Amino acid sequence: MRKLVLGIETTCDETAIAVVVDGKKILSNVIASQADLHAKYGGVFPEQASRRHLEMMLPVCKQALQEANVTFSDIDLIAVANGPGLIGALLVGIHFAKGLSFGLQKPLVAVNHVEAHLYSAWMSHTTEIPLPALGIVLSGGHTALLHIHNIHEYSLIGQTQDDACGEAFDKVATLLGLPYPGGPKIEALAREGNPLRFPLKGGKIKNNPFDFSFSGLKTSVLYLVKGQNHTKHDPLIITEEDKKDVAASFQQAVFTDIISKAKNAFKTFPFKSIIIGGGVSQNLALRRFFDISFSEIPIFWPNKDLTLDNGAMIAGLGNYIYSTKGIPDINSIVARPRIPFL
Ligand code: KG4
Ligand code: ZN
Repeated sequence: MRKLVLGIETTCDETAIAVVVDGKKILSNVIASQADLHAKYGGVFPEQASRRHLEMMLPVCKQALQEANVTFSDIDLIAVANGPGLIGALLVGIHFAKGLSFGLQKPLVAVNHVEAHLYSAWMSHTTEIPLPALGIVLSGGHTALLHIHNIHEYSLIGQTQDDACGEAFDKVATLLGLPYPGGPKIEALAREGNPLRFPLKGGKIKNNPFDFSFSGLKTSVLYLVKGQNHTKHDPLIITEEDKKDVAASFQQAVFTDIISKAKNAFKTFPFKSIIIGGGVSQNLALRRFFDISFSEIPIFWPNKDLTLDNGAMIAGLGNYIYSTKGIPDINSIVARPRIPFL
């Protein structure tokens, strides 16, 4: 019998709810982005995010059911992202999910948001993914390399020690006067720029060659565009044309750093494939870079509708966890803003 899962995602600035059949077939995947609300702050304003989630939960849920052509009584399982994320935003989604679970008398499972980004690759492909795989999460809140032994079985190899990859894109975009979220805007500018013009580099972490650091790179961009000893509020000292070269050089530096750490990981671990997830995986230059650098290795990218934060990946992974581990005690499901990987 087919199992209908309602997936709820409110970890950051997207109110997202999806209906997924048997963890794979997406009947609806509604995403209400709050980008307009946060654009003027140059990043996510947590308190405003929680309030917007509160307003959007019911309309987004209604739309997800309508688009899937189902009603609440058709739902067999509810899955909710319980972290990592913003505490206020998580509380809205989790309490909505608990209310539904209680009211409808349907089981509820909790899902790790970062893990769900990687699970998107399993939902996007019908072929078997060769394991162990190198998992690479590149999102607005997280940057990590993982040893994927199996679905829901990971160990962390490296992670960022400061800014996440998408966060660095967003902050550099702000420095260039571009609105939030800056990733797609940097990608577009970079297409017209010279990536070799400015010699920028990602940081190295002494004790772990697989860790990341993007804050030094961000400061180098600050110096390039505002001059040394100036604050980010000072006017730009570069031209519109220069901006394209800064964007291209920055993007190239970030991606070269990720590729070089991924290559090292392949020298150290017996990986047979690569799985990539998170918002930055939308970037076509990144996809080209990986295709060229790992031409012999199968790479599994998420489909476009599963790259940014969405409820379908939560439903998909929730279905897997429910089928393999059963239902947890509802009282054990609490918002965990700093949840580690698993
Ligand atoms: O995975 P995601 O939706 O949210 C988090 O879990 O954080 O990722 C959002 C991030 C933002 O930082 C956004 O700027 C970045 O993904 N992003 C991109 C692109 N599209 C989205 N970064 C670089 N190039 C893109 N095309
Ligand atoms: Zn995310």
